[in-house]
Amino acid sequence: MGEGFTGSRVGALQKAHRVETVYYVAIERRRSMSITLRFKSLIYAITASSDASNAVKRLGLLERRLPSAASRFAIPFVFRGRGYFRSMRPRQNPGEIERLYQAVCELRPRRVLEIGTAKGGTLYLWTQAAADDAAIVSLDLPGGPFGGGYPAQRVPFYQAFARPGQNLALMRADSHAEASLAAVRAHFGAGPVDFAFIDGDHTYEGVRQDVAMYSPLVREGGIVAFHDILPQEWSPVTQVHRVWNELKRDNEVEEFIDRDAPRQIGIGLIRVPRDGLRLATGAHSDETRASRDASSVPAAASIE
Ligand SMILES: C[S@@+](CC[C@H](N)C(=O)[O-])C[C@H]1O[C@@H](n2cnc3c(N)ncnc32)[C@H](O)[C@@H]1O
Repeated sequence: MGEGFTGSRVGALQKAHRVETVYYVAIERRRSMSITLRFKSLIYAITASSDASNAVKRLGLLERRLPSAASRFAIPFVFRGRGYFRSMRPRQNPGEIERLYQAVCELRPRRVLEIGTAKGGTLYLWTQAAADDAAIVSLDLPGGPFGGGYPAQRVPFYQAFARPGQNLALMRADSHAEASLAAVRAHFGAGPVDFAFIDGDHTYEGVRQDVAMYSPLVREGGIVAFHDILPQEWSPVTQVHRVWNELKRDNEVEEFIDRDAPRQIGIGLIRVPRDGLRLATGAHSDETRASRDASSVPAAASIE
């Protein structure tokens, strides 16, 4: 009996000790991670300006090696820099974004709007696909959901994406603010937008609002494109597919889905008809409400 008692007591103590150890290891790991992160940000901040000029130089080197618009598709995927400029990789499935890139190269837009820029990969592509004298606007919310925006230190690097003669405006703001719409309009002046890429807030309401606010700026025959048009089980808050399904009902669309890729995300393209892009109103169905209640938007969450 004594032995049994001792055995179970020792077992219980060992178990408690293991739980406690796991707990403290987790705390230590978090603490050392945040110390590492703080240390990393400090180093990045100290080296930011030399890393920025190094990144611009590396980009220039790649561009000299890859002079055509078609070959420059590879650049954001292969670019490597230092510190804040480690990567400019698009948050995209390469096979899918390549097809959109081809469509935009054919359009050769003079006015381009991107909502959601993050590491700048797609913004870079639009500067290469656009006309030599294009006006390009990037709207991205610092610390925004679905990617977290980009630090101010990357601004000079993104400015270097613009080709000579192009005018690139980096607006670090909420696309849903009326002031952002006014700033976009002011930047483009009287001319209509030829191409808009909507890849910012991925909630149902967020995408609908971007469509409602910015698609009227796009001219007849211009392109409005969307990322994440397929349901993403790993991110229930990403609901672009629901807006896309509504758009599909009333517009002619093209879908770029790379069936050979390990994971499909999907890009949708609409060529704006004469009477504008059609999105039915009052689509706040029970399904919308239920899914909105079930999922909350993660601040600065990563969707990939
Ligand atoms: C998925 S990332 C964009 C990825 C980029 N287009 C690419 O393929 O590399 C989404 C970005 O949208 C931004 N964002 C989220 N909500 C926004 C909003 N309301 N207004 C502007 N930007 C927003 C986030 O800050 C994030 O950087």
